[in-house]
Amino acid sequence: MIFESISSGGCRSYLVGCEETCAAALIDPELSQIDRYNALAARHGLRFRYLIDTHTHADHFSATRQLANQLGVPVVMHRASPAPFIDLRLEGGDLLVIGRLRLQSMYTPGHTKDSMCLCLEDRVFTGDTLLIGATGRTDLPSGDAGALHESLFQGVLKLDPALKIFPAHEYKGRSHSTIGQELADNPRLQKRERGEFIDMMQSLNLTMPTHVTEALRTNMSGGKTVAQMLSDAAASVPFMSMAQLKASIECRRDDLIVLDVRERDAYESGHVPGAFHLPRGQLELRVNEELKDPTRRILVCCEFGRISTLATATLRSMGFLGAVALDGGIKAWREAGYPLSEGKEP
Ligand SMILES: [Fe+2]
Repeated sequence: MIFESISSGGCRSYLVGCEETCAAALIDPELSQIDRYNALAARHGLRFRYLIDTHTHADHFSATRQLANQLGVPVVMHRASPAPFIDLRLEGGDLLVIGRLRLQSMYTPGHTKDSMCLCLEDRVFTGDTLLIGATGRTDLPSGDAGALHESLFQGVLKLDPALKIFPAHEYKGRSHSTIGQELADNPRLQKRERGEFIDMMQSLNLTMPTHVTEALRTNMSGGKTVAQMLSDAAASVPFMSMAQLKASIECRRDDLIVLDVRERDAYESGHVPGAFHLPRGQLELRVNEELKDPTRRILVCCEFGRISTLATATLRSMGFLGAVALDGGIKAWREAGYPLSEGKEP
């Protein structure tokens, strides 16, 4: 078996591959690591057959949907997953065939309603059902401490104590543990009586993970994160440096339209001399009256350089093929001591 563990912050994803057939599966991939997964598969001469999420993640952005689009490979989750883009929905006990490997799902609700563990030879991928020295939390949407108690004590913990466990999170750099070790040492597993276990889980008072609403929104819908929107837009437009814009203003060439897409107050309190004002919120509706020549060179700017990137992508998609975004925003322009005008432009 080819095996790789990939860490991203406290999140873990796993690549498993069959040496004989070159088939592979990826478990709990995270959006920022896409190039790494593809590189690992290439290094081992593997082809992904399945992209698997052990559950709906609330604390990181799943890469399954994007990788599925890139590679034409099915996304696999438990049947209870709310995401509409799942290609293959498993029941507990179902097997996935990965060349000579057999990956068996085990339905383990509790951390979420759609949580499953995946057993493979000498190991089990426990998702957030069982962590090293902890369990998944049960206070996020669809969590259920009673269900987790049953999934652990009637399910995972009844497996062979020698099985290695590979969780979806590990914050202390340990590579794995075993079922037996967790039964002996995991503080959360010492309350074995159902009522006591539920009381303990409900009194943990954990802080909310960052980006929880965005993670749930995108993981459940397959929609894009804000960072993805910005990076897609940035990849589809050219940029102009601030120094280049400054030089262009200084030679007073009128072949460049500087378009400031901030709100009126921000524009009037200081803008690039000669900049034309058209707020982002009105861009599509007013563009036909305000920018009559689609062949003109248009430099789009905003406060931080992010909205202007989106606006430039919009303009180019509308046929303004001379639109470029400022590399940076008016904040950086101001801090660089470059010239600004106040009030309205004549
Ligand atoms: Fe989770």
